[in-house]
Amino acid sequence: MTKVLVLNGPNLGRLGSREPEIYGHLNFAELSERVLALASELSLDAEVRQTDSESELIHWLHEAVDSESHVVMNPAAFTHYSYALRDAAALVTKAGLKLVEVHISNPHAREIFRHNSVISAVASGVIAGFGVDSYLLALRTI
Ligand code: DQA
Repeated sequence: MTKVLVLNGPNLGRLGSREPEIYGHLNFAELSERVLALASELSLDAEVRQTDSESELIHWLHEAVDSESHVVMNPAAFTHYSYALRDAAALVTKAGLKLVEVHISNPHAREIFRHNSVISAVASGVIAGFGVDSYLLALRTI
């Protein structure tokens, strides 16, 4: 079975109550349920995780390489400045695995500091601006 780690960075555990006008009303548990429901429909072996810790996210990318899992990742604010996360993401795509960068909002339509992603250049592709559907589209590409 094709394995997929669906990884989420800082503050995404607060979905539902965090700036709902930007991120919507779905909480993280509900988002996870939707992701896992589609994964099972697509016969993907998926796991959804969230952390506020940069090092934990990096270790999960190492785990993806070692376990030959594709990755759907919402790096949240790390998107914009974490070169360490970028280097770990590059290990995934260099290993021949897919890494799809996803965002709930469209960062390009927001503050200037959100317009740059240090991850995109090493990702297989980017899906942004479609709410939870960004994750669902990412699963379909895998
Ligand atoms: C986000 C966009 C980022 O700029 C922000 O820091 C997030 C969430 C999104 O999913 O739209 O935390 O990645």
